[in-house]
Amino acid sequence: MSHSPALKQTPDTPDFIVIDPHKAMLASSLEKIKVQGGTQLNGVIPISGAKNAALKHMCAAMLTGDPVQFTNMPVYLKDIQTLAALMKEIGVAMTLRSDGTMFINASKIHSTEAPYDLVRRMRASVLVMGPLLGRFGEATVSLPGGCTIGSRPIDLHLDGFRAMGAEIILEDGYVRAKAPVGGLRGAKIMFPKVSVGATENVMMAATLAKGETILMNAAREPEIIDQGEALIKMGAKISGLGTPEIRIEGVSALHGMTHDVLPDRIETGTFMIGVALTGGTVRLQHTRTDFLTSLIGPLQKAGVTIEEDGADVIVHRNGKPLVGTDIMTEPYPGFATDLQAQFMTMLTMCNGAGMVTETIFENRFMHVPELRRMGADIAVQGNSAIVRGVTKLKGAEVMATDLRASVSLILAGLVADGETTVDRIYHLDRGYENLVGKLEACGATIERLSSGLHEE
Ligand code: EPZ
Repeated sequence: MSHSPALKQTPDTPDFIVIDPHKAMLASSLEKIKVQGGTQLNGVIPISGAKNAALKHMCAAMLTGDPVQFTNMPVYLKDIQTLAALMKEIGVAMTLRSDGTMFINASKIHSTEAPYDLVRRMRASVLVMGPLLGRFGEATVSLPGGCTIGSRPIDLHLDGFRAMGAEIILEDGYVRAKAPVGGLRGAKIMFPKVSVGATENVMMAATLAKGETILMNAAREPEIIDQGEALIKMGAKISGLGTPEIRIEGVSALHGMTHDVLPDRIETGTFMIGVALTGGTVRLQHTRTDFLTSLIGPLQKAGVTIEEDGADVIVHRNGKPLVGTDIMTEPYPGFATDLQAQFMTMLTMCNGAGMVTETIFENRFMHVPELRRMGADIAVQGNSAIVRGVTKLKGAEVMATDLRASVSLILAGLVADGETTVDRIYHLDRGYENLVGKLEACGATIERLSSGLHEE
C-alpha cells in the first residue's frame, strides 16, 4: 500500500536533467577556472541542499518499492548524477528536475550488484549496500579503492553487516554480502571509530532487520539526523539520532514519502570563509548556523560577524584584518574536515599564525603545496600545519586535487594579487552547484575556461 498519495507516478516533465556522468566528468576535466583576485564579495547566495545527505537519501529510497520524492536536492552535482546513473543501471526509475525535485521509484530493481565502473567514480556508491542487503538479502558492490585524501577502508560497514548475521565475501575486487535465511537480525554494534558512512549504511540495513539494532559510538552529523528523519517518515523506527547511541527497531516494510533535504553546511561554511577572506557582506539564503558552531566560533574570533535573519544567514567583515586562530578537525560537532582546507586558506591571510590539525583523514593537506605556490607560509609536521599569515598571496596556476582542496584554491584566488587558474575542476563539480555563478553574482571576477587537458 502506498502512503504517498501525492506521488502517483514519476512525472514526465520537460525540465528534467539528463544523466550522463561520464560525459559530464570528461567535459569538466577539460575545463579550468580563472579568478581575478581583489574584489570583495557582496550580494546574495542561495545555498543548495546538502550533498552528503542527498546521496544517502537516494540510497535509502531503495528500501521501498513505493515512490519517494525529495525537494531541495542538489541535482546538478556530478556525485548526485553518478549515483543516479548507478541506481538507474540496477533498475531504479529516477527523475531529476531542475527545480531540485527528485522522484525515485525502486519497485523494479533487477540487480543487486553495483558495478566497478560507477563505484570507482564515487566512494559513496558503497552506501547502496545497506539498503540492498536489508531489502533483498544480498548486495554485491565493487570495493572502492583508496582516494587522494586517504585509504578510506570500509571495514566498519562490513563488520556491522556481519554482526547482523550477513556473510561477507571479498573476491575479484567485489564485496558480496548475503543475509542469513530469514533476513538480517538486529544486533548491538559498537563502532571502534566514529564513521559517518558506516553509521548510515548499517542504519539503513537495520530498518528492515528482525529485532532491535543498537549502534554505539555512532556518528552524529546533521546529515545522519536528516537521513534518519526521512527514514522515520518512511515508517522506520529510529531513536537517538544526533547522539552516539542510535536504536533501530526493524519493521517488515517501509513506504513512500516526501522529504525536503537540509541545507549544505559545508557549502554554507565555504562561503562564510570566502567573505571572511575578501571582506564584504553576503546573505546566504535558506541555510542555518546551528550546524556550524565549530566554524562560527573561530570565524568570530578571527573578526567576522555572522547573524541569522529568518531562514538566511548574513556574513560580514569590515576592513579590519583577520586574526589567526587554531582548529582541529573532529567528528561532528567538532570542526568539519570538509572545511579544513578552506579555513587554512583564510589563515594564510591572517595577522599572526594559526595551527590546523587534521585527525580524520591521513592525507588531507594536498592543498598546502598549491597554496605555497601562491605565496602562503605553511609548515607541515605530521598531521598539523602551522600557517603564518602573509600580507599578500600571488595569483598562480594551481591544480585541484580533491573537492575541498579545489575550492580552497578558488578562495585563495579571490584575494590573490593578479590571476589564478585552477585546473582539474571536475572535483569541484562533484560537490558545488554553480560555484562560478554564485561567486560572480557577488562581484567576483571568475570564469570557466577550456583547459586543453585530456583525461588520464
Ligand atoms: C563522509 O565520508 C563524507 N562523505 C566526507 O565528505 C567527510 O569528509 C567524512 O564523512 C567525514 O566527515 C560523504 O558523506 C559522502 P567516515 P565517509 O566513514 O563516510 C575511517 C566531501 O568532501 N574509516 O566518517 O567515507 C576513514 O578512513 C567528503 O564531501 C575506517 O577506518 O567518512 C576516516 O579516516 C570527503 N573504516 C574516518 O574513518 C571504515 O569502514 C572517518 O571516515 C570507514 C571509515
